[in-house]
Amino acid sequence: MNSVDFLQQLVDTPALLINEPVLQKNLETMAAYCTDNGIALRPHIKTHKCPEIAKRQLELGATGLVCAKLGEAEAMAEAGLGPLLVANQVIGPLKIKRLVALNKQVDISVCVSRGEHVQELVMAAHAANTILSVFVEVEVGMQRCGTNGPEATLELTRRVCAAHQLEFRGVMGYEGHAVGTKDFAARHRKAEAAHRELAFAVSLLREHGIGVPVVSAAGTGTFNLSVKPDELTEIQPGSYCLMDSDYFGYENVRDYFELACTVLTTVIDRVDNRIVLDAGLKSIAVDQGLPVVRWRQDILPFEIHEEHYCMEVERGGPVPSVGDRLELLPSHICATANLYDEFHVFCDRALVGHWPITGRGKYT
Ligand SMILES: Cc1ncc(COP(=O)(O)O)c(C=O)c1O
Repeated sequence: MNSVDFLQQLVDTPALLINEPVLQKNLETMAAYCTDNGIALRPHIKTHKCPEIAKRQLELGATGLVCAKLGEAEAMAEAGLGPLLVANQVIGPLKIKRLVALNKQVDISVCVSRGEHVQELVMAAHAANTILSVFVEVEVGMQRCGTNGPEATLELTRRVCAAHQLEFRGVMGYEGHAVGTKDFAARHRKAEAAHRELAFAVSLLREHGIGVPVVSAAGTGTFNLSVKPDELTEIQPGSYCLMDSDYFGYENVRDYFELACTVLTTVIDRVDNRIVLDAGLKSIAVDQGLPVVRWRQDILPFEIHEEHYCMEVERGGPVPSVGDRLELLPSHICATANLYDEFHVFCDRALVGHWPITGRGKYT
């Protein structure tokens, strides 16, 4: 058990903590895994939204960074980081204007999955006398965005390739339905089926003379179920760097990555065996389950409010005192990191940094 009591006078609560050596080890483990398996790594920064972590990922050989939103891409570009792939459809005049501006600053690609997307980008690139880079997003079973079937992928990609104002960078087919499946065998089956579907679409493009430089997919839950020659050229996992209790329940993930991030809280009240922490819905995400206390399996979630988390200590266990600090394990790190301005970073028993989360809250 490693205590963070030394932060008592240094960090107020609730606060997001990173154990720096654990983070670094996670980053190096994924980088080495990709090198050893001959696959490129393009990490998704939606997990941390933090330029310092993104910089470390690039230093370890990542081919670029995936962003969920244009605003996240702007935050990374502001820090001088790239190339960037926005794994999303960027539509509408306001966003397109920002994209064109960003395109002058950094190597950036966005996703398209229908004719209207292509048309809007072509017109904007034409008006700005520039070239915009795109990935064709393929729907591989998640039922989110993406072209519907190989023929549709072929037709759309042909349209992209025919447009002088666009550069076709490759295809992306994120298998989120597999990544989110807890059962390992079922996850493996779904991931294989999704990658086969993506590979089939790619082979159709190649049969029609279209070169596909990049085939991108996969998340932390499927990172090591994805390495097959002729299927993917790169993976785009996000959560592996910080991890969370949800992913720690996946055996194929837990074997590689450790929990690097916690939310530090203070006990602000207690009655009998019931304690109240100063973290709540506004400081820790609960969409993937109620967070638990690190090192204390005998403290059970009772009820969570906006700024209070009520928990019960099982009979017989030591009840923390008012003023004591406890670490909560985020169950969904991406949504939790989005609630904070900075990570407090420690190494051994020293606070070594405050890393701004400049991509947080960038929903547009
Ligand atoms: C497009 C895309 N790629 C990759 C990921 C992988 O993220 P993680 O590794 O955190 O599961 C996600 C997660 O939502 C995603 O939306």
